Amino acid sequence: MNNFVYDIPTKVYFGKDQLTHLGEELKKYGKKVLLTYGGGSIKKTGLYDKVIAQIKTAGLEVYELSGIKPNPSIQSVRQGAQLCKEHGIEVVLAVGGGSTIDASKWIAAGACVEHDPWDFFTKWSPVEKALPILSVLTLAATGSEMNGGGVISNEDTLDKKGRVEQILRPKVSFLDPTNTYTVSAYQTACGSADILSHVMEVYFHMDDDLYMLACVMEGLMKTVIKYAPIAMNEPDNYEARANLMWASSWAINRFVNGGRQHAWSCHPMEHQLSAVYDITHGLGLAILTPRWMEYCLEENTLSKYVQFGVNVFGIDSKLSDREIANQAIEKTKEFLFETLGLQSTFAEIGIGKEHFSMMAEKACGGKSINGFKTLYKEDVEKILEMCL
Ligand code: NZQ
Ligand code: ZN
Repeated sequence: MNNFVYDIPTKVYFGKDQLTHLGEELKKYGKKVLLTYGGGSIKKTGLYDKVIAQIKTAGLEVYELSGIKPNPSIQSVRQGAQLCKEHGIEVVLAVGGGSTIDASKWIAAGACVEHDPWDFFTKWSPVEKALPILSVLTLAATGSEMNGGGVISNEDTLDKKGRVEQILRPKVSFLDPTNTYTVSAYQTACGSADILSHVMEVYFHMDDDLYMLACVMEGLMKTVIKYAPIAMNEPDNYEARANLMWASSWAINRFVNGGRQHAWSCHPMEHQLSAVYDITHGLGLAILTPRWMEYCLEENTLSKYVQFGVNVFGIDSKLSDREIANQAIEKTKEFLFETLGLQSTFAEIGIGKEHFSMMAEKACGGKSINGFKTLYKEDVEKILEMCL
């Protein structure tokens, strides 16, 4: 167990009608607001009107950047940063899912520098300043509402790159589960697969556990397994939406890490898939995760699968360790592909092996992924092949 510092400065308004506090919170950070959103779902649901009403009542001036697409593009970030500079924007308000919030974080950073925002990812330019960011979450998945991460795509170079900076954590996030009632069954499934993966990326490691954190992670995974199908079948089930929403934030705000530093495995692989094929992040993770589990199963990792299988899926602990591990992988597949109904192979979503070599190279950052099991380029290629 390593030492660590834990510091979460995001204020969360959780629950119904909390948006009535939006105006007063925005006012604390500035008068000129850049409102950012995606392809228009917030207009269809009526959330846009509520947000605008709050901004107007608070007497603030609003500018807009719309059209931020899933797997957000560096073009939106450039556009947003430019708007901030032109109009002297003081605070960025992201209303949407992870894509909108991620893009807004890099807009907020890009507004404070003279260089191209893509340099943050390729030249690791320092992030010393950023405009304050507030978020209104509409999809439970990425945890972007309570963390400092942001992942951006560049269509010109077929790259998708992420970076975490504490200064980019939203100052305030509004988490109203009713805002997720309109999320489609497919996006609910993908978001749930994403939450599950965030926990698994940390849980699957052979370091000594802090028992308390292992229990929290098992609770988060059980929450997703219990409530995702309910939310898919009954989109306006408040209890299900609320559980998924709060799980999404806590899965990836570094709480469950304790002092763990190890690299994630499925995420760097998935980011290459969505960079090249523009697929939904959670779908890519769903296809990869069980294959990665199969690939990493060996004598010295067996105990982790046993812990996972027994504590998360309730597999009979009297079975042999191998049997429990195999059943744990099968149960994971069953949840992702049958319960959530996600596609289970690359073939089904039109992905062939033509870019595997390049994707594996990029996933390893030129060296290796030092995660649950160290993966080199050849290992990543094999896992990708298992997904075909
Ligand atoms: O664009 P709009 O019209 O808003 O529609 C979106 C989009 O089509 C729709 N949607 C969102 N809320 C809705 C809704 N539709 C109806 N009702 C609502 N209430 O859902 C679609 C997907 O939205 P998106 O924001 O792309 O989804 P998600 O939240 O899953 O974000 C995915 C992005 O986040 C990154 C992913 O790589 C991907 O680029 N990630 C960010 C992380 C972070 N910041 O820490 C970590 C994650 O691992 C992940 O990499
Ligand atoms: Zn993710």
